[in-house]
Amino acid sequence: MPELLDYEPVVISPSAGEETPLTPVQEEILELKKQRNALIIAHNYQIGPIQRIADFVGDSLGLSYKAAETDANVILFCGVHFMAETAKIVNPGKTVLLPDMDAGCSLSDSCPPHQLAEYKKKNPGLYVVAYINCSAGVKALSDVICTSGNAVRIVENIPKDREILFVPDQNLGQWVAARTGRKMRLWPGSCYVHILFTVRTLEKLKSRYPDAPIVAHPECTEAVRDMADEVCSTEKMVGFARDNPAERFIVVTESGMLNRLHREVPGKTFIAGPTENCACNDCRFMKMNTIEKVRDALRNMGPEIQLPEDIRHDAYEPIKRMLDWSR
Ligand code: 13P
Ligand code: SF4
Repeated sequence: MPELLDYEPVVISPSAGEETPLTPVQEEILELKKQRNALIIAHNYQIGPIQRIADFVGDSLGLSYKAAETDANVILFCGVHFMAETAKIVNPGKTVLLPDMDAGCSLSDSCPPHQLAEYKKKNPGLYVVAYINCSAGVKALSDVICTSGNAVRIVENIPKDREILFVPDQNLGQWVAARTGRKMRLWPGSCYVHILFTVRTLEKLKSRYPDAPIVAHPECTEAVRDMADEVCSTEKMVGFARDNPAERFIVVTESGMLNRLHREVPGKTFIAGPTENCACNDCRFMKMNTIEKVRDALRNMGPEIQLPEDIRHDAYEPIKRMLDWSR
């Protein structure tokens, strides 16, 4: 007898048929996009209507490559601040727009640049690997950047005789340390969204859907990662769902991911990973972007990302190293 769930799970079933027509706001965005020669890129956690009008939807790594390679004049980044900032670091001459300047990240906030600078001063000689979910100031103090999609590969590239400090996500860092066998100092930061998933709620859901593999993001806690069938970046979740013979999956990450999975793997069913209080788990920062704010950003050519040139310059090298190492 399956254990009783505290609430009904969020289940996205296979597509019934054709997509609904675009709304007038979506149509206007596509028109403005042409006028501005803009590229719209969106993270996998964005709402469905934004993902639908984006030129590219992906994880932090894919979005970084898109931003680095575009010849558009304007990049409209539908994601959070550190992502748009990364696009500006690699494209100083372009206009980079973020629909809502307050779309921050709790993980990024957990590592202020002055604290990292102080730590490095007291502990000289460390090789600093910064997860891309950090500010430009932290990137500027780092040796190399990584995303959840390439963290293992990046750490494997670091000379064996160097001691590593991994910032700011202790959960991703712990996962990478286990996969690479590298001992690392971990900054005590975490993502407020991913640490809300618990073994207790996942066990209840799994007893209702015993055939559904669990796929979890590495920002989850170790206990949750240990019960997952696959731990990977949001982009790799798409390939996992497509290639695995299972018909349905429990997806343990921010709930916007279900939009991407539903579109790209339309024949399968996706069940949102629950928290103790809710059947799914939204990042309040990612969800600050609305379709109207996307339209307004193109209409007003703002809010625009601005960066002091010295910080941008110092933050560029470790990003470039990452892009080169993960090609
Ligand atoms: P991905 O790079 O796997 O999409 O993760 C980004 C993120 O913010 C996770 O919380
Ligand atoms: Fe930051 Fe977590 Fe939101 Fe990702 S899901 S943007 S790590 S707060």
